[in-house]
Amino acid sequence: MDLLYLLRAGQGGYLSGSALARNYGLSRAAVWKHIEDLRARGYVIEAKPRLGYRLLASPDALTAEEVLPVLSTKSIGRYYHFFEELASTNDEAKRLGAAGAPAGTLVVAERQTAGRGRLGRTWTSPPGGLWLSLLLRPNLPLADLGPLTVLAAVALAKALARETGVKARIKWPNDLLVEQHKIAGILAEAQGELGCANQVVLGLGLNVNQETADFPADIRARATSLRGILGHEMRRAPILRAFLEVFEDLYEHGLIHGFRDVLAQAAANSATLGHPVRITGQSGVLEGLAVRLDPDGALVVRTATGDVRVMAGDIE
Ligand code: BTN
Repeated sequence: MDLLYLLRAGQGGYLSGSALARNYGLSRAAVWKHIEDLRARGYVIEAKPRLGYRLLASPDALTAEEVLPVLSTKSIGRYYHFFEELASTNDEAKRLGAAGAPAGTLVVAERQTAGRGRLGRTWTSPPGGLWLSLLLRPNLPLADLGPLTVLAAVALAKALARETGVKARIKWPNDLLVEQHKIAGILAEAQGELGCANQVVLGLGLNVNQETADFPADIRARATSLRGILGHEMRRAPILRAFLEVFEDLYEHGLIHGFRDVLAQAAANSATLGHPVRITGQSGVLEGLAVRLDPDGALVVRTATGDVRVMAGDIE
């Protein structure tokens, strides 16, 4: 018996305990036990003598039951793996991918104990954020994957605007900023041979309900969360769904028509283009003016000695 489904289908009306017991061949004590289990998970259920049970409120959970019923994607997020705790959702998605999990597999964790950022940094992931990894199999050469990080950033910025009204800008290649404060980061990791990436894991961390004190002291001044901006907590499932839906649209379009459109959207919403930048990368430090995004996702920096294309790096 999927009691949660039945309570939701009741749309705020009462479900009779005795009818439930009768229809599903359960004792009334067994129905009561189901109700208590749901309550323990944060569902607020009213019980009225002679009327039955009524769902009053659901927890801000990222479980499959909270996310999937109204998700409208075809494949993105359809294979849903939720964990209360993981070391890193990227590691779990890679493991599932290596074991043959299909494209669109999504790993979500309430908290991570060893969340990773780019360049080997730690990504602090307490409960209340959105920590997820999406497994993709785009069948593209490794060299053509640059735009995927940007695409995820565009999708998240659009989803945030749609669901929360918060306008975030993209700091190339993988951060979302709200007024210079970082609210989200993306970590793309690909496995495969040079000719073809047989799996890409796009990891995304969005600060949602953390308070300032939840951030490590060294990043506190540069980081923010939706709660910090809006002044109240936000439910995460609608934001996750919006991200998955927007992502699927952009990704399908990109695979068929190329990533030019999404790069143009990123350029139009960029916190980097038109600004002086100092980029620390593998080949040292580069200073200049960020002038455009190339079709492969590279950032073009105008330096004193000419234009330089940068594929990855850390921007100030
Ligand atoms: C960055 O800004 O450096 C990228 C941060 C990426 C963090 C996310 S949280 C979910 C996924 N799992 C990880 O271990 N990292 C990414």
